[in-house]
Amino acid sequence: MTRVFIFFIWISLTVKSSECTCSLPTEWDGTWYDSYRGDVVFDHNNAQVTSGWTLSSYSSSVSAFTCVTEDTGYYLFKGDSFVQLFSNDYNAFYCIKYTKITDYSYYYYLYSDTEANANNERAYVELYDAAVTTFPVSTYCSPSTPPSTEEFHVMVKSGYESNMKQWFPTPLLGNFYYTYNDGSTDTCGANSVWDDCTNRTEAVFNYTLCSTQVLFSSDGQLNCATYLSSGSTYYVSVLNLDTTVTSPSTYRFTCMTVTQSGSTVYVSTNPGDCVAGQSSTVKTTDGGTVTLTPYSFTTDSSTSSAGISIIPIVAAVIAILLILAIVFLACFLYKKHKKNNEEAKIQSSDQEKKPIESNGRVKEGTRESDMIVEPMTARDALSVDLPDDDDRGLVPLPDYPRPAPPSTPMSQAIRSKIPEMEQPSIPPISKR
Ligand SMILES: *[C@@H]1O[C@H](CO)[C@@H](O)[C@H](O)[C@H]1NC(C)=O
Ligand SMILES: *[C@@H]1O[C@H](CO)[C@@H](O)[C@H](O)[C@H]1NC(C)=O
Repeated sequence: MTRVFIFFIWISLTVKSSECTCSLPTEWDGTWYDSYRGDVVFDHNNAQVTSGWTLSSYSSSVSAFTCVTEDTGYYLFKGDSFVQLFSNDYNAFYCIKYTKITDYSYYYYLYSDTEANANNERAYVELYDAAVTTFPVSTYCSPSTPPSTEEFHVMVKSGYESNMKQWFPTPLLGNFYYTYNDGSTDTCGANSVWDDCTNRTEAVFNYTLCSTQVLFSSDGQLNCATYLSSGSTYYVSVLNLDTTVTSPSTYRFTCMTVTQSGSTVYVSTNPGDCVAGQSSTVKTTDGGTVTLTPYSFTTDSSTSSAGISIIPIVAAVIAILLILAIVFLACFLYKKHKKNNEEAKIQSSDQEKKPIESNGRVKEGTRESDMIVEPMTARDALSVDLPDDDDRGLVPLPDYPRPAPPSTPMSQAIRSKIPEMEQPSIPPISKR
């Protein structure tokens, strides 16, 4: 009897601990917009998704999930109830491999293989076994065919749309006119404005010029949520700022595949997420393709629509002018540097000659033209024994050998004056 009781406690402890091993970020509470699911509601305290997710398996489904395992970058959620497969109970799992963008925005992958018994969603279903009480990420989050870059999903906390804005990727940072193709018809064209430049985190369309809702937004204003890249292809997720969305005409999220060729930018759009393998020039089932041409600030749309794009020419001219300016600057700096060096050399050789003039010391056996000059030393200073105007004669240290008198004509001339200055008849110069 006691044994049964202990077993019971053990079971309840195990169940409890396995259900409370996750601590979701504090912001994961309340409503979030999910590019894959629509609106999702989190209950942070119970590490639970209470609505928004639904996993269907034939006629059964589960819509509430609780996080059962947490690992760095992963949350594993298990269905709160079973789904029935061939009259058996199955556990259903979603593994979230996530990356934080801001406190209020994340992108994630569903990190499972596609499951034929769950509408080919990336999910994991497993026959219920009471003996299985732990769900390691190594088993439940290890797809043999992981999702590719563009299969990411984005979630943004409702009410924090302005806290999550990110910059658009470089090819989209501009002010464009664009041609939209829905699979059969071209719209917009030369007279249109798609502006990602005024605010580099916001796309703004001028629907007065062309009213086609290229990114499934009725107000034509969207925030960049994030972008991922693979090679030179960008996958960009934008969040529609409309107060309400009504699919299938408008959507909260749109995913774009973006490439650039010269100054032309190619975009394919898809409501919600990008589809696996989405190419920038191929229309998806629910999306369209767009060709963007940047406006130049030195031209206007009428010039551009005339078919002659002067943008590359202007760019080339600016580039050439820039290169010339750099070359001129380099030459000027080089010349200046060289001149400075020469002046410095002249000055330093002047300085080197001075000691020779003051004490006439020249290395023996050298001609004036190729003298080896020794720099001034303390010893040189001591050897100068002429008093100056203030009679502050430099007296050699008594124990310091006085060098032999130099014999250049100039020093002889100086020396010849010394006796006069030592005339005893001249009274000592009084100190001033
Ligand atoms: C650009 O973003 C800033 C900061 O969010 C905002 O104050 C400003 O109004 C925006 N400008 C435009 C043209 O949307
Ligand atoms: C849209 O274009 C029209 C016509 O050129 C212009 O009058 C209007 O100011 C533009 N709207 C915005 C928001 O730039």
